[in-house]
Amino acid sequence: MQEIYLDNSATTRPYDEVIELMARVMRTGYGNPSSNHAKGMEAEKIVREAREALARALGCRVEEIMFTSGGTESNNQAIKGAAYRHRRRGNHIITSAIEHPSVLNCCRRLEEEGFKVTYVPVDSEGYILVEELARALSAQTILVSLAHVNNEIGTIQPLDQIGPMIKKNNPQTLFHVDGAQALAKVPVELDRWQADLYSCSAHKIHGPKGVGALWIKANTMLQPLLEGGGQEGGLRSGTENVPGIAGFGLAVRRSVKLMQANNDLMYGLKERLLQGLQKAGVTVSVNGPPPRRSAPHLLNLCFPGIKADILLRALEQEGIYASAGSACHSRHPQPSHVLQATGLDEDMIAASLRFSFSGLNSVAEIDTVVKQIVKSVTELRQILP
Ligand SMILES: Cc1ncc(COP(=O)(O)O)c(C=O)c1O
Repeated sequence: MQEIYLDNSATTRPYDEVIELMARVMRTGYGNPSSNHAKGMEAEKIVREAREALARALGCRVEEIMFTSGGTESNNQAIKGAAYRHRRRGNHIITSAIEHPSVLNCCRRLEEEGFKVTYVPVDSEGYILVEELARALSAQTILVSLAHVNNEIGTIQPLDQIGPMIKKNNPQTLFHVDGAQALAKVPVELDRWQADLYSCSAHKIHGPKGVGALWIKANTMLQPLLEGGGQEGGLRSGTENVPGIAGFGLAVRRSVKLMQANNDLMYGLKERLLQGLQKAGVTVSVNGPPPRRSAPHLLNLCFPGIKADILLRALEQEGIYASAGSACHSRHPQPSHVLQATGLDEDMIAASLRFSFSGLNSVAEIDTVVKQIVKSVTELRQILP
């Protein structure tokens, strides 16, 4: 059976070249980058080249990149590292209601430890209410943490408006951006946003799982979460995941190079899917911003009256993979906190599916998916009340 993978927000298929490079690094470049001999230096060079690739992609300095085990660790390091380091300056953190659990749960943990957190609401398309954020800023605010692109509905936040506003209120407030869903899909403009910290994840851009990076602007002080041998500038101890980092570097280089072509393709695929369904007479609405305004790879659709999990199973039987929300939630079905925050009612949330694309998808695949959804929705409407 043909497999059609439309869950690229959860994770992507690694590029073949990435897999081959990682295997080669494991086989021959297995030295410890900290070792003071040729084998160690070979591994150190592999890590350095990946760091350079990431720095080029983010438009930052090479020494500002810290490798981590993924977006989750990058977010934890940024948020807890900033909170613990700067708690003497203030105890207030601002985030939004639609963040990834790796941000929200960090903030909840910090609340238990005595920090105050403001969860700024969003509008019906998932845009942060900027005036509410402005009102929440105070002399006590040490950190603002926001996702660049939302992982369920693809809202791209106006960071060029938000960042300068934060700094105008207090230049010492750190601005962390979670870029896990944005890297190589949406332009990164760290200077323009006046950001201090930016989280990335390799497996969202056809790299390996378990690798990520945190950009830490020069002179930004964070408390390390891991103590040990002092790797990664003393902030992240532990022998580097050299094959993973190598794979990340190659995935970044390739996906940045292909960004324009992939985005053109993905915007086309989103429109084809939506228009295909509408032309076939399927009742469907878009959650989040209109498809052309949201991130290229995300399309969240509501099929009123159809239970998302039933439609998902029907599609899965035909080899089509999508999801009912973020991967972190889908095994524990709870209404999506993102859709709730946009004001969607429970029935509509239960009828919503996330389709997420990559440059490896094709027009032919989307035509198959449209046919299959039309068939499944028609059948389900006949049997469901
Ligand atoms: C917005 C966002 N932040 C963080 C993460 C966590 O990244 P990782 O899976 O690399 O830990 C994800 C992954 O789904 C995400 O979508």
